[in-house]
Amino acid sequence: MVKILSIYILKIMINKLSVSNLLGIKYLKESDINLIFETAKNFKEVINRKIKKVPSLRDITIANLFFENSTRTKISFELAQKRLSADVINFSSSSSSISKGETLSDTVNNILSMKVDMVVLRHPSPGASVFLANNINSCIVNAGDGCHEHPTQALLDSYTLYENLGKLNGKKIVIVGDILHSRVALSNIFAFKKLGAEVKVCGPKSLIPKHINSLGVDYVSNFEHALNWCDVASMLRIQNERMNQSYFPSTREYAKEFGLNKEKLDKLDKKIIITHPGPINRGVELSSDVIDSGKTVILDQVENGVAIRMAVMYLLASRL
Ligand code: CP
Repeated sequence: MVKILSIYILKIMINKLSVSNLLGIKYLKESDINLIFETAKNFKEVINRKIKKVPSLRDITIANLFFENSTRTKISFELAQKRLSADVINFSSSSSSISKGETLSDTVNNILSMKVDMVVLRHPSPGASVFLANNINSCIVNAGDGCHEHPTQALLDSYTLYENLGKLNGKKIVIVGDILHSRVALSNIFAFKKLGAEVKVCGPKSLIPKHINSLGVDYVSNFEHALNWCDVASMLRIQNERMNQSYFPSTREYAKEFGLNKEKLDKLDKKIIITHPGPINRGVELSSDVIDSGKTVILDQVENGVAIRMAVMYLLASRL
């Protein structure tokens, strides 16, 4: 009896995340990521059924607080919450009292006093989610904070690669483009490394952080060499909205040197997996003949985003 009880308790402990907020991939263990993947696999089956809804988060209220524009992440979180039967509140800063000078923690505390259980936060300031987690008493999910982290994007990217390649251990992934301003790059570096992949970054030297090697990744300046080396090319958006100076001579030259087009793909004697988090600058990071070729997994990433976000919120809610 004692043995059965211990196994049961151990199973419950194993099936819990080691964190009570999702602030960044930096704070997750490999076992957390694998638990999220296992849970997402089950939810992916659910959302492909005729009846796509489960009652898992009934009576849980979640506020989506978006202080920065979003298409994919916002819709994906909201859909994930509705598929889990949660009650959902959507807040956008442009139509709120933020414009009257209210602080972030005051705004969130006012929302929480209406008995909200979980907050999904997108914010232009790096560290906004960590700040909020330290200052309010609620479960926080980071939906992207400035150029810091975008953990659910990295989880859905890694899960899409896991579906295509099996385990990422030993796989070669190159992240290409604007590494300097990209929260997706940092979260993906953490996720891919935790899952055992070999990671390199490629792009104009001006868009590579000076201390990139301290994250355990190498820089490769030549895109064709990077393509010949990799199993996966993770293409990133040029974040024009975060740039206050020119980082390369022109968009045309960037596209010629670091953009992926059919000609460069045809030169490879192997198939590689091509990802992009969106939104895409069409003709810059990827040419139309690649985007429209069906040779990327971009829409699979978007589909997996819903299952991954269901898994994250379900697992965090089980700790409430
Ligand atoms: N990938 C991503 O975060 O897209 P959105 O900015 O549209 O949410």
